Amino acid sequence: MAQDDHSSAELVAADSSHPEQPTASPGTAVIVADAFENPGFPAHRPRVTDENPKREKRAQRTIYTLFYLSILGSVWAIAAYMLFPIESNNVGDVRLNNMFIGLGATLALLGIGFGAVHWAKSIMTDVELVDERHPIGGSPETQAAAAKVFADSDRESGFTRRAVIRNSLIGALVAFPLPAVVLFRGLAPQDQNPIELLSHTMWEKGTRLALDPSGVPIKASDVTIGSAFHVIPEGLQDLEHGRLEAKAKAAVLLMRLNPEELNELPERESWSYDGIVAYSKICTHVGCPVALYEQHTHHLLCPCHQSQFDVANHCEVIFGPAARPLPQLPITVDDEGYLVAQSDFTEPVGPSFWERH
Ligand code: FES
Repeated sequence: MAQDDHSSAELVAADSSHPEQPTASPGTAVIVADAFENPGFPAHRPRVTDENPKREKRAQRTIYTLFYLSILGSVWAIAAYMLFPIESNNVGDVRLNNMFIGLGATLALLGIGFGAVHWAKSIMTDVELVDERHPIGGSPETQAAAAKVFADSDRESGFTRRAVIRNSLIGALVAFPLPAVVLFRGLAPQDQNPIELLSHTMWEKGTRLALDPSGVPIKASDVTIGSAFHVIPEGLQDLEHGRLEAKAKAAVLLMRLNPEELNELPERESWSYDGIVAYSKICTHVGCPVALYEQHTHHLLCPCHQSQFDVANHCEVIFGPAARPLPQLPITVDDEGYLVAQSDFTEPVGPSFWERH
């Protein structure tokens, strides 16, 4: 900040009780002398473990017992995952599974935490030190000092010397992340091949196309040129379990174009009905719902990362990060004029991971 050159008066230290304070120019910060003297360290009080070898031994036993308890907790968490599996959607199973795995993980964490604190407080060398600030640097002297600090820490903590404690702590730290590894198994469906499961949807030959979310079947005559419908398989709303998962794979967009504007692949000419086409609503980039249809250009837009698909050209990608066209659902009409699927999708829906699989 610029100083006030018009003032010749010098700023006097605010505390008049310290007449020896230096004077300062206006605009300059004034540091007032500390009103209190540094009281220094309180008298050192030795701990009971410093004076009584028996108590020190007892503390040592307590510490490694805590680390062993931590290992026990980690092992129990793994065992609980297997002993209390989550069968179907049973809430009681979920509760038991979570409770016992949680107890194991809690014991594992507390064992390490209490053990480490107890070790530091009762056995490691107890001295008061002043750590003066010094310039940051990597001179040989500094490196030698750092090495000395490590050596002193090792000697004072007994990390090398107290092998039982050290090894039990290392064991506890190694065992602790293991429950997390086995918990990942819970992300995959039970007793089913996840790849097989993701390769198929609820659509099958003869399944009627129904409005989302009402589930009302759609007649071909209801679909006018230029319109677009969000579609689910008929019967999806009646599923007792896994309705959301089924919908996440089977959601479809239905559009009607002027048949002359449709450029269909030769092998798919029978997959549409009088200009009505159905495509998976799940974006082939990372699986967002492709929900925006531009009637005039026949483009579908995924709002997540702006991938665009050209419905008139078998939903090929015309912009954005998606790497493959939206899968097409082969459709036709039944005897009553309702739109029905000819089969399931002929390729997996969703992210382009499938292309590489
Ligand atoms: S999920 Fe559709 S563009 Fe990324």
